[in-house]
Amino acid sequence: MLDTHIVTLSRHVIEQERRHPEATGQFTNILFDLALAAKVIAREVNKAGIVDVIGRTDQVNVHGETVQKLDEYADLVILNAMDHTGNLCCMASEEHEEVIAIPERFPTGDYALMYDPLDGSSNIDVNVSIGTIFSIHRKVSEGPRGGLDDCLQVGRRQIAAGYVVYGSSTMLVYTSGAGVHGFTLDPSIGEFVLSHPKVTLPDPPNRIYSVNEAYAPQWSEGQRALVEHLKSEAYTGRYIGSLVSDFHRTLLRGGLFMYPADTRKPQGKLRLLYEAAPLAFVAEQAGGRASTGSMDIMDIEPTSLHQSTPLYMGSREMVDLAERFLAADGTPSGP
Ligand code: AHG
Ligand code: MN
Ligand code: MN
Repeated sequence: MLDTHIVTLSRHVIEQERRHPEATGQFTNILFDLALAAKVIAREVNKAGIVDVIGRTDQVNVHGETVQKLDEYADLVILNAMDHTGNLCCMASEEHEEVIAIPERFPTGDYALMYDPLDGSSNIDVNVSIGTIFSIHRKVSEGPRGGLDDCLQVGRRQIAAGYVVYGSSTMLVYTSGAGVHGFTLDPSIGEFVLSHPKVTLPDPPNRIYSVNEAYAPQWSEGQRALVEHLKSEAYTGRYIGSLVSDFHRTLLRGGLFMYPADTRKPQGKLRLLYEAAPLAFVAEQAGGRASTGSMDIMDIEPTSLHQSTPLYMGSREMVDLAERFLAADGTPSGP
């Protein structure tokens, strides 16, 4: 018998919203709009080899990284899907140095959106999975149009967070504080359909660690000792180099994802507001942890839009273990 009980993202979010009588529907519409943007981006990603979205632009972003065409395309798709809806007071993107104001001609709303439009850009041209990461905060500033204060909020105050992974299938995974739920895009009906309800990290976790070992010469003694210990405990290594893909595997299989601080990157590489904090919310809601190596990611009080943080994320006991090794050599790890 064919299953007729299809739970779409729309139906799921509306059911979640019904639990909050005070909800205005703005939040629900933000997720709908993000899902639309994800479908448009997925369409281009899935034919990247055909249409001219492969390769670099002649621009360099605020991080000194060459902007890939698909970075720019994804950023514009999200911007254009979100800026006129009246649900947001402002936005922040990896690809924009400053806060993105809502154009005066459009109404504003009660939420701020931070996003990494395309994560894992270096993998676009070699057809390895990439993603989009988003974080939603409630507006806290006075006046109708938001600003930096609405973006520089501690991760614990996130209203929702999640990511899209453009892989063998396109999945949208999100939490609004009531567990983690995964939806797979069914291109035949153009809908994200609930495929992974109430995702929790497996317990016991698979023995997988994920880190770019090319940087080992720049690691602290504690970081080196940690990875040597994991190797002695018959762990296997997996590193895709796309945070969303490495995180998604860690969420479903368990294990430990690390992007440590090192002598060249004392604050790590990954950005707090639109990479570490949203994924930390998902990790904690799935029963895991996310740490700088010495404190919870979601307790960091942000001071700048694009600040980085060392990141240890995954199964609770593995993140705890990482913190013990790093503390052993007194390595300063993150703010
Ligand atoms: P982005 O493409 O948004 O700049 O992110 C790239 C990040 C992240 O996806 C990944 O975990 C990390 O860069 C890989 O960095 P290394 O190449 O230094 O390992
Ligand atoms: Mn990224
Ligand atoms: Mn990016």
